[in-house]
Amino acid sequence: MVAFGIASFALFIVLQFKSVRKSISLCCSTKNTANNAPPPLPADLPICPSVEEEKKRVHKEKTGKCALVINDLTKTFGGYTAVNELCLAVDRRECFGLLGVNGAGKTTTFNILTGQSFATSGEATIGGRDVTELVAIGYCPQYDALLPDMTGRETLEILAQMHGFDHYKEKVELVLKCVGMEGNANKRIRYCSGGQKRKISVGVALLSPTQLIILDEPTAGVDPQARREIWELLLWCRENSKSAIVLTSHSMDECEALCSRIAVLNKGQVIAIGTSQDLKSLYGNNYTMILTLNNDEQREDIVKRVAEKIPKSVFKTAETNRTLNLKWQTKPNEPLTNT
Ligand SMILES: Nc1ncnc2c1ncn2[C@@H]1O[C@H](COP(=O)(O)OP(=O)(O)OP(=O)(O)O)[C@@H](O)[C@H]1O
Ligand SMILES: [Mg+2]
Repeated sequence: MVAFGIASFALFIVLQFKSVRKSISLCCSTKNTANNAPPPLPADLPICPSVEEEKKRVHKEKTGKCALVINDLTKTFGGYTAVNELCLAVDRRECFGLLGVNGAGKTTTFNILTGQSFATSGEATIGGRDVTELVAIGYCPQYDALLPDMTGRETLEILAQMHGFDHYKEKVELVLKCVGMEGNANKRIRYCSGGQKRKISVGVALLSPTQLIILDEPTAGVDPQARREIWELLLWCRENSKSAIVLTSHSMDECEALCSRIAVLNKGQVIAIGTSQDLKSLYGNNYTMILTLNNDEQREDIVKRVAEKIPKSVFKTAETNRTLNLKWQTKPNEPLTNT
C-alpha cells in the first residue's frame, strides 16, 4: 500500500512536467491511429483571401491584446491531419464562431486549447499565456462532463465556491434561472435529459470568471425554445461580461445570431473568416423562394407555373411532403420567361 502510494505520488510529480505530458500524448496519438487513420484529405473548397489577412495579422504579432491567439496550430493523428495550420485571433469581449461540418476539427482544436491534448506543431495563447500552462478558462465540452450523482445545483455551487465567489448561492441561482434549470436544479444529473445536462454544462462554463469561455456545440440536443433562451443568455454575456466567447456550431443561423466574427473550418483548415455578412456574400450565391399555398389543391398548378416562369429554378420540397410551404432555389440573375 505504501509502495503504491509512493509510486502514485511520484507519477503525479512526473506528470506535472509539460514535456512528459506532451511526449505521452504524442506517443499515444501516433500509436492509436497509425494503423487505422485515413490519409489526410486535400481541402476541396477554395480558401478566401481573408484567411491570408488573418494569418498576416497573427504572424505580425498585431494581436498582443487578444484574448486568444492561435498560430499555425496543427494536429496530426498518425498520418491524418485533423487540424491544419490554424491561424486566428479572437479579440477581448468578442464572440467568435467556429463553423464546420462533422469531422472539421473543431473539438480537436478545443482539446488543445483546454490542455487535453498537445498540438503537433504551432501554438496557442490565452491572454498571452501558452495553453500548455493550463490557463483557466470556462469550458462547455461537446459531451457533458458532469458527475452523475450530483444535482445541477450542487455542481454549480461547488464550482462557484472553487471560483471564490462571495455570494455564491445567489450567483448559482442566477445561472440556473438564466439556463432555464430552476425547476430541475435538484434532480441528479443521471436522471436529467440530454438537453437538461447541456444547459447545466453551459451554466458551468458561463459561471467561470475567466477571460475566455469556449463552448463546443452549446445548443446540440436542446429544444428550439431552450435554444433561443441559451442564445439570449450568450448574447447577454457578450454584451455584459468581460470574457471573450468562442463557440462551435454546425449552424450558420446560430453563428449569425451570436457571433461578431465566424471562421469556417473545412477538413482542419480555415477556409473563410469574417462577419456573417462577409460569409454570405462569399457563399450565399443562391436565392430561396418560399410560397405558402391556401390549400393543397393549388400545388400542381403553382409548381407548373413556377417551372414555366423560372425554368432553371430547382423545386426543393419533396413530393411526399404535403406541406403548404413550397420551396425553390435559384441562382441570382436567373432570367424569367414572359409566359
Ligand atoms: N484521437 C483521435 N484519433 C484519430 N483521429 C481522431 C482523433 N480525434 C479526432 N480524430 C479525427 O479528427 C477529425 C476531426 O475530429 P473532431 O472531433 O475535431 O471534429 P469536429 O469538427 O468536432 O466534428 P463534430 O462536429 O462531429 O463534433 C475527425 O476526422 C476525427 O475522426
Ligand atoms: Mg466536435
